[in-house]
Amino acid sequence: MKAIAVIPGKPNSAHLAELPMPSVSDVPDGRGVLIRVLRVGVDGTDKEINAAEYGAAPPGYDFLVLGHESFGQVVEVAEKVTEVKPGEYVVAIVRCPGTSIYDLIGTNDMTLDDVYYERGISNRHGFLTEYYVDNAEYLVKVPQALREVGVLLEPLTIVEKGIAQAYEIQRRLRIWRPKRAAVMGAGTVGLLATLALRLRGVEVTTFSLAAKPNPNAELVEELGARYISTKEMPIKEGAKTFGPFDVIFEATGASVVVFESLQSLGKDGVIVLSSITGGNRTLEVPADRINLDFVLGNKVMVGTVNANRDHYEAGVRDMAQAQTVYPEWLRHLLTHPVAGLENFKELFDKLSGAKGAIKVYCEVAAMEEQESWEKNIARAS
Ligand code: BGC
Ligand code: ZN
Repeated sequence: MKAIAVIPGKPNSAHLAELPMPSVSDVPDGRGVLIRVLRVGVDGTDKEINAAEYGAAPPGYDFLVLGHESFGQVVEVAEKVTEVKPGEYVVAIVRCPGTSIYDLIGTNDMTLDDVYYERGISNRHGFLTEYYVDNAEYLVKVPQALREVGVLLEPLTIVEKGIAQAYEIQRRLRIWRPKRAAVMGAGTVGLLATLALRLRGVEVTTFSLAAKPNPNAELVEELGARYISTKEMPIKEGAKTFGPFDVIFEATGASVVVFESLQSLGKDGVIVLSSITGGNRTLEVPADRINLDFVLGNKVMVGTVNANRDHYEAGVRDMAQAQTVYPEWLRHLLTHPVAGLENFKELFDKLSGAKGAIKVYCEVAAMEEQESWEKNIARAS
C-alpha cells in the first residue's frame, strides 16, 4: 500500500513509502474498522512537518505518514462495531487518548501530557495512504449528503472547539449574546470561523492582508460578513469603526496580529487564539495599556488546539446547516485537488503557494456512486 511520508528532522523529505495493508483485527476487542481513504486535506501543519519544524515518527519507524484531515468510506467492520457500516462515510479524530484525566474522559484535546499522539503529526501515522484501520470509538460519521465537502470537517473542528470554548467561558456572564465578532485571517480556518459565527447570527468583520477584490473576500461577503484588508484599514482602526468586538477569533498564524487584536476586544469580551506560531519572534507591545484594558474590562484570552468528538459532531451539524443556508459555499473552499498519492510533489507545490488556493487536498481515490457500492457490498456478502 502506498503512503506519503516524511523523515522527521529532515527538511523536504516528502516521499512515497510502503505500508502493509491493515486489517480490522489490528484493533483489539472486535472494535476495528477498515476505511478506504478518499480525500485528505493538507495545511500549514503539513508544510511545517515537511520543513522539519514539527512532527515525530511513530515508535519503531523512521518515517511519519502525513495527513490529518481525512475523509473516507468504511469497507469492513469487526464483530463488535455497531456505530458504522460498510459504505458509510467517516472522518477520524486526529488526537489519540493519552494518560491524563482529560484523556480518560474523551477530551484528548485538553491533555496534560507533554507527549501526545496525533495522526499524521505526532507519533502516529496519518491518512495519506490507501486504507487505514481505527477503533470505531475514534470515527465520526458524515452523512452521504455531505460527502462532497466532508474533507473540510477536520479544519472546521478547530473552529468549533474555539467557539465552544468562548461560549463555555462566557457563561460567567449569565447571559452572553455576542453581537459583533472579528475574525483575524481569511485562510481556511478564518473562513470557516466566519461561517460558524454567521450561522450563530453574529455580525462578523473578517480582517486579512489581501486587498479586494480577491476570492476569499468574496467568500466572506457571500456569508453576509464584512471583509477588511488591513492594508487599507489597520485592525485598530477597524475596531473603532466596526467594533468593539464581543468575540475575536485569531487565525492568521502571525503573533503580531494577536497583540493588535488584544487591543480591539470589547468589555467582557473573549479572544480565541488558534495560530500555531512555531518561530521565535519577539515584539514590543504597550504592556501597561493592554493589561489595564484587560483588567478594567473583564476580558478573557484563551488558547485552543485540536478538537474532541463533540466538536466533530458540531462540525457535521454546522456543515449540514451551511449547505442549506449558503449552498455551494463550502464547496468553493475546495480549490486545489491533486489526483493520487503519487503526485505528492504537486501536493506540496500547491500547498506552498498556489495562486488562489484555499484548500489543497489529495484525491486519494474517486468517490463511487452510492449504488455501485451497495452492489459491491451485496456481492461480497
Ligand atoms: C491540527 C490539529 C493539531 C494541531 C497541532 C493542526 O494542524 O489540525 O488537530 O492538534 O495541528 O499539532
Ligand atoms: Zn490541521
